[in-house]
Amino acid sequence: MRVMIVSAISREASSCYILARNIFELCRERGVEVDFATPANVGVPPNDGLVPDDLPAALLWQQRVAATHAHIWVSPEYHSGMTGAMKNLFDYLAKEPMAGDVIGLVALAGGAMAALNTLNGMSVVARSLGAWVAPELCALNSNDVKNGLDDRTQARVAGLVDSVLDMGRRLNAPPPSADVVF
Ligand SMILES: Cc1cc2nc3c(=O)[nH]c(=O)nc-3n(C[C@H](O)[C@H](O)[C@H](O)COP(=O)(O)O)c2cc1C
Repeated sequence: MRVMIVSAISREASSCYILARNIFELCRERGVEVDFATPANVGVPPNDGLVPDDLPAALLWQQRVAATHAHIWVSPEYHSGMTGAMKNLFDYLAKEPMAGDVIGLVALAGGAMAALNTLNGMSVVARSLGAWVAPELCALNSNDVKNGLDDRTQARVAGLVDSVLDMGRRLNAPPPSADVVF
C-alpha cells in the first residue's frame, strides 16, 4: 500500500512541515511506501484557469495521486481554512481521483481554539474528491508541535496514522475469491 503525506507548507521550520515529517516517519516505521508532497515539490502554479491541461508538473502530480491508496493531509489554519497553496494542489485533480481511498486530516492553529473549521473544510474537499475521511480528526496547536509533542498527543497522532493505514488496507483489499465459503 502506498500512502501520501501532504504538507500544506513547504518551509521546513514550519510546525506544519515538522508534524507532516513526524507522520511520514510513523508511516515508514509501519512498513508502508510513503510519498511526501509539498506545494514546492509538486511545483504547480496557481490554477487560475489559464494553465494548460497538459502542464507536465500537473500530469506528474496527478500520477502521484493515482498511485496512492491512503492520504494524510496536514495544514495550518489560514483564516479558518486550509492554506490556498494546499487547496491549489487539489484544484489540479479531476473529479473523484481518490475514489476508494482514505484520508486522515490534521490541522494546526495558532490560537487557543483548535482548528475545527479548517478540519471541517478539509473534510468537505476530501469528500468532494471521492475519499473516505477517517473519523479521528486531529487538531493541534502549532506551538505545541514546535515545542515537541507530549506523549499523549503523539499517541493521538499515531492513532490517526494507524486508523488510516488500517482503513486503507481494508478499502484496497482484493475481493474475496468466489470459492470462499462463508
Ligand atoms: C495568513 C495566515 C492566516 C492565519 N489564520 C489563522 C486563523 O484563522 N486561526 C488561527 O488560529 N491561526 C491562524 N494563523 C496561524 C497559523 O495557523 C499557524 O499557527 C502559524 O502560521 C504557524 O506558523 P509556522 O508555520 O511558523 O509554524 C494564520 C497564519 C497566517 C500566516
